[in-house]
Amino acid sequence: MINLFLIFLIIGAGITSQTRANEIKYDKERGKYLFNISGCKNCHTQKKDGNKLPAGGVRIKTPFGIFYGSNITPDKEFGIGDWRDMDFLNALKKGISPTGNHYFPVFPYNSYTQLTNRDILDIKSYIFSLPPVAIKNIKHELKFPKLMRKATYFWKLLFFKERDFEYVNQKSPNWNRGAYLVRAVAHCGECHSPRNIFGGIKNYKSLSGNMTGLHNLSAPNITPDIATGIGKWTKSEFIDFLQSGMLPNGDFTGGKMAEVIDNFSVLKRKDTKAITDYILSLKPRKGNIGG
Ligand code: HEC
Ligand code: HEC
Repeated sequence: MINLFLIFLIIGAGITSQTRANEIKYDKERGKYLFNISGCKNCHTQKKDGNKLPAGGVRIKTPFGIFYGSNITPDKEFGIGDWRDMDFLNALKKGISPTGNHYFPVFPYNSYTQLTNRDILDIKSYIFSLPPVAIKNIKHELKFPKLMRKATYFWKLLFFKERDFEYVNQKSPNWNRGAYLVRAVAHCGECHSPRNIFGGIKNYKSLSGNMTGLHNLSAPNITPDIATGIGKWTKSEFIDFLQSGMLPNGDFTGGKMAEVIDNFSVLKRKDTKAITDYILSLKPRKGNIGG
């Protein structure tokens, strides 16, 4: 009996020290970088009033109604302060809340599902290093909010799949890094890929432009199609664009894309190169919104 007890004690201690080791591994600085380039702040930080914290309140217009980004500061009452790592992983990888509700896919977990657990928990450790803000969430303006929350379950069955990023061994690490940044982190497809009438992304037309996507904006074809996409852009023009928002014709991109470019002001040079090489390597697709 005492032996058994001792065994439990040893296993218990093993588990605790393992958890501690994991906690030490979280890298808040990495998390901050990922938080910035993955656009969390574009939906969770209300820039009015000079607020720099992700306390929610950003208005997001979609064909399905108006959504408001939630308070994701570590406030225990109004934010996510009492969330465990598992809760945060479930939100980003599965689109499920700690109480088992399904999140609306306007929160781009369909892309974030491909983030690695390490990246997600580094983001969490950064968020949890910020001061809590006691601001209540704003209710979404939807015609049938309860019904739509339930319908999200079916939507997910049809259009969402929890998945990890698929590393392609035949391609270079640089290409894979670019694919990871485009698909999972910076979720370019959430705005640039066409959607069906239910708001599901048409994967076979990935990045070929979208008339009414997130924020009710049309976002152009960014595959290297000569006639309708960015097929005429040179590599250095694309790099300049990611760094400054300047188009090859000298104009500057506006609106939501300007926010993405703003996020990229911290983008490391090797990540700029990775995104560029990946996008320019894509199969050209025809789109109906010119680039
Ligand atoms: C395009 C806008 C958008 C982006 C980008 C975005 N979110 Fe959200 N997020 C939302 C919306 C809207 C909700 C509320 C969803 C709902 O009510 O179903 C939400 C909900 C959440 C929740 C759940 C909050 C709660 O109280 O249940 C978490 C956590 C979260 N987001 C974290 C993040 C993180 C981390 C990032 C960046 C990696 C991010 N979000 C990027 C729009 C966004
Ligand atoms: C939140 C939505 C959103 C996200 C995310 C987004 N874009 Fe955009 N993008 C737009 C919109 C909207 C425009 C058109 C801007 C305008 O009309 O000035 C645009 C324009 C562009 C253009 C200019 C194309 C042209 O021919 O004018 C390129 C290139 C581009 N985006 C690449 C990207 C890449 C690469 C990513 C991911 C790293 C990305 N975008 C993520 C919304 C988005």
